[in-house]
Amino acid sequence: METALVLYASNTGNTEKVARVLIESLHQYGWQVTDYKIGSDWKTHPIDVNDYDLLCVGSHVHWSLPSPHLVELLRAPFINPTKITPGPKCGMAFATYGGAHLGPHEADACLTYLELLFEHLGFQALEHLAIPGKTGRRINPQYFHPDLQNRPDHDDLERVALFIEELHQCPELMALMSKTMMSHQTGEKNEITV
Ligand SMILES: Cc1cc2nc3c(=O)[nH]c(=O)nc-3n(C[C@H](O)[C@H](O)[C@H](O)COP(=O)(O)O)c2cc1C
Repeated sequence: METALVLYASNTGNTEKVARVLIESLHQYGWQVTDYKIGSDWKTHPIDVNDYDLLCVGSHVHWSLPSPHLVELLRAPFINPTKITPGPKCGMAFATYGGAHLGPHEADACLTYLELLFEHLGFQALEHLAIPGKTGRRINPQYFHPDLQNRPDHDDLERVALFIEELHQCPELMALMSKTMMSHQTGEKNEITV
């Protein structure tokens, strides 16, 4: 069975809501899913992204960027060089954002940075997903999403499930699923050093 890791950071629960739907949807497509919510104590629960065929990495947008803990975890293999298994492996980034001024554009840097980090680790980036998420700040009707305090809402979470459905039509993921099935059958596993 293909393995997926859903690795995410969430301070106030918005990204966690998205991660939960993602996990459920991946299960429906037959993935064996491990999920890990990262916190400041992540070093005491080491996790090896190499063990997975599909990596889904999610974060709240934190001053335009991903959670510093997530960045630290994904950069760790470069600081302490380690063995990485070659592909096929795919990755997808997701984020929740407030987007007060610029809307979804405010999630772009965070998503691109996450993709860059996991592409360095050998995961080919697929489509990514940005979902609005309420903030503790006083809501301003001038905000890009005037209903921000109710997000992510039911429609947002349906969009997450639809996104996973559409992701399974993408040729890269379809190729990964068939190649992974074959390599799991033959027990093939090579390693390279980064
Ligand atoms: C300290 C802080 C900084 C934030 N920076 C941004 C930002 O630069 N751009 C943005 O769109 N949203 C920003 N937000 C809003 C969060 O990204 C948004 O509320 C997110 O959904 C929170 O996710 P969580 O509940 O999983 O922690 C910020 C929120 C906080 C508390």
